[in-house]
Amino acid sequence: MQNILDKAVEYGRNFISYGKTASYIPELSKVDPNQLGATIVTLQGEIYSSGDCGSTFSMQSVSKPVALMLAIADRGEDFVFKRVGMEPTGDAFNSIIRLETIKPSKPLNPMINAGAIAIDSFILGSNARERFRRLIEFFRHISGNDSLWYNPSIYRSENETGFRNRALANFMKDNDILIGDVEEVLELYFKQCSIEVNCQDIATIGSVLAAGGVSPITEQRIVDKQIANLVKTFMVTCGMYDASGEFAVRVGIPAKSGVGGGIMAAVPNRMGIGVFSPALDQKGNSTAGVKVLEYLSRELNLSIF
Ligand code: DON
Repeated sequence: MQNILDKAVEYGRNFISYGKTASYIPELSKVDPNQLGATIVTLQGEIYSSGDCGSTFSMQSVSKPVALMLAIADRGEDFVFKRVGMEPTGDAFNSIIRLETIKPSKPLNPMINAGAIAIDSFILGSNARERFRRLIEFFRHISGNDSLWYNPSIYRSENETGFRNRALANFMKDNDILIGDVEEVLELYFKQCSIEVNCQDIATIGSVLAAGGVSPITEQRIVDKQIANLVKTFMVTCGMYDASGEFAVRVGIPAKSGVGGGIMAAVPNRMGIGVFSPALDQKGNSTAGVKVLEYLSRELNLSIF
């Protein structure tokens, strides 16, 4: 396994130069684009790492399936999916167009920005502080990393420049989708996106999903099997945004990318994989990260299809 992972990372390096770090969040453009690391956590609890796996990065949209699990555990499926849809979109992750053209207004799915912001407004807690505390504790629990925290510079950068996310949130508030105070919800969303992780943290989360909600390391149940399976399904249909179809064909693994360069993958009953390389393609997915997963899928026969 170590040998195959090393080779996958070596292969992936050839594709770093095809991408660019995200620039619409100013702080992300400062990250060294030449990093590439990957970690596998198997359901037997073995851990394999290769490349720059000591690097940390902000979760960005990799956080979305995790927040979704907490919101469903808090509110139940009926509540959540009355307000957020289940359909993939061929539009960009931050697109606003469908919010107005679909009637009644509803974000298409919980993996695009609009859906994820709405999801954060469903998280329970008597005030903003408690909601954030519950969220970070859930992220710590599922990643097995008790010291997870958000990166304050990235948080500030997102908050200061998140005009489009603000527009999405305000539009959803006007349509009674988003619950509570718009600015408080955005603060929670930006903090969540700025949570700093390494490849092992997201590989561990992937392994919990792969194991149907149980941690292969602690053997503790973190979420219901039903919730873990539902989230994996969203990762297949919407996890790589408007590249989800091509990724399903070429890689065939439930996965979620983020503009920080991370990709979290969950191979049912086998392993979680965390990959990090900050240079992104046009759609916001890590160029080298996708190639590492493509290589691993081919060599280890990981496709679920
Ligand atoms: O809200 C945003 O735009 C970012 N915090 C997260 C977007 C993201 O990661 C999309 N991923 N490919």
